[in-house]
Amino acid sequence: MSISKEAKRITTHILQEMKLKGEKISMLTAYDYSMAKIVDCAGIDVILVGDSASNVMAGHETTLPITLDQMIYHASSVVRAVEHALVVVDLPFGAYQGNSKLALASAIQIMKEAGAHAVKMEGGKEIRESVDRILSAGIPVMGHLGLTPQSIYKFGTYVVRAKEDEEAKRLIEDAQILEEAGCFGIVLEKIPATLAKKVAETVRIPVIGIGAGNGVDGQVLVLHDLLGITIEFSPRFLRRYHNLHKEIKGAVKRYIHDVKMKDFPSDKEQY
Ligand code: KIV
Repeated sequence: MSISKEAKRITTHILQEMKLKGEKISMLTAYDYSMAKIVDCAGIDVILVGDSASNVMAGHETTLPITLDQMIYHASSVVRAVEHALVVVDLPFGAYQGNSKLALASAIQIMKEAGAHAVKMEGGKEIRESVDRILSAGIPVMGHLGLTPQSIYKFGTYVVRAKEDEEAKRLIEDAQILEEAGCFGIVLEKIPATLAKKVAETVRIPVIGIGAGNGVDGQVLVLHDLLGITIEFSPRFLRRYHNLHKEIKGAVKRYIHDVKMKDFPSDKEQY
């Protein structure tokens, strides 16, 4: 990589400075080269190769089925496209839970084979040992608290988390544990805005929200939701910036029409 490209690159240190300056951090998912290139060109700060690829790209009902090799395939495609953003990759379900040696091996595989810049893991106190091990290998770690989709079968539903005092208290403690361990940031998913604001004010590391209100240090959304490709998913926190489902369907219908009517290709569109 050239020096000028290196200078433009967002790092975990830059994210920390952004929090200190009160500059909001923008983060979006991407799972492939073409989308990642567009998102990066637009100037996004952080690209998350989320395990939501399991839902969005593969059509699974949950994030649980996606494998480490599949995450590496998505992540390496994204990394090849990106010149500016920090690329964070989810450690998938089964690649770290309950085993810090496995966690380190999975994180190293992602960094080596995909060329990622950081990994993200769901959980607090229970993943502390894994976070320590991964950080000791020099790999930046982002935490993820609140609604953690890899535990969906424990929760039973996708409703807002930590509405009760006890769970809210535990969430703040977990955020402090992740900060103390050395995580460079935390994603908070689907929790009350007042609680998310309190977490962002309590820890010094950047806190990025999804369905966590405006009092945090940045926002993340799933790109396909923002673009209106996944129209069946419509939670209150989602702002749609486009209706690509309609646009793409319309374009495909016009193409089908042109083929059927023998209008495509025209004389100018052939050799
Ligand atoms: O996998 C994902 O897309 C995520 C975001 C919802 C934060 O973890």
